[in-house]
Amino acid sequence: MHTEVKHPLIQHKLSLVRDKTTGSKLFRELIGEISKFLAYEALREIPTEPIDVETPLMTAHCAHVKGEIVLVPILRAGIGMLDALSELVPFARIGFLGMYRDPVTSRPIEYYAKMPEATDDSTAIIIDPMLATAGSSIAAADILKRRGFKKIILICIVSCPEGLAKMEEVHPDVNIYTACVDERLNDHNYILPGLGDAGDRLFGTK
Ligand code: PRP
Ligand code: URA
Repeated sequence: MHTEVKHPLIQHKLSLVRDKTTGSKLFRELIGEISKFLAYEALREIPTEPIDVETPLMTAHCAHVKGEIVLVPILRAGIGMLDALSELVPFARIGFLGMYRDPVTSRPIEYYAKMPEATDDSTAIIIDPMLATAGSSIAAADILKRRGFKKIILICIVSCPEGLAKMEEVHPDVNIYTACVDERLNDHNYILPGLGDAGDRLFGTK
């Protein structure tokens, strides 16, 4: 299942992030801000447990997040979303998955994986700005499932119909939150209209 999180401020920020004249500093800030909006929505579904807290006046019946949250950025571009999400969820653990798309085949090449152990009640949140062919996100969910994560959420800023369909076919149990479902992929498997190469724009490599 996927949810396109529509909000005037997300749309406004997306227009800036897509703009080819936006430089790396502003691009990074916008990616962080949009990521927080998406995470607010995505984390609505995480369980809570009751906890009593003593205010200066009396006992308040409150709630705490139940279980562990593990943020899993896909390197490199997922790193651009990590600071914002770890500010929002400071108690989250963090795992890293290194992957890049082969420039010819667009298949993901895995080069790194370091992750906290899954517990029965942990929720893993894959973070990556782009869902194009879905190869990278599918591989990420495969790895997380092999390592015992049962509850997995994917947060991606820009997605496309082809990638969503593939991800939902292979991992129907992974709930996807995206700021925009774009039109389609081009012949090089880049999202149109998209925002270009997220990693290059975040880190100024081109
Ligand atoms: C980009 C992006 C995703 C992937 C999406 O990474 O950050 O990880 O492509 O494409 P897919 O859905 O077709 O797999 P890239 O391979 O450019 O690596 P980078 O983050 O190191 O630049
Ligand atoms: N990776 C990107 O950074 N952008 C795309 O449009 C597709 C994959």
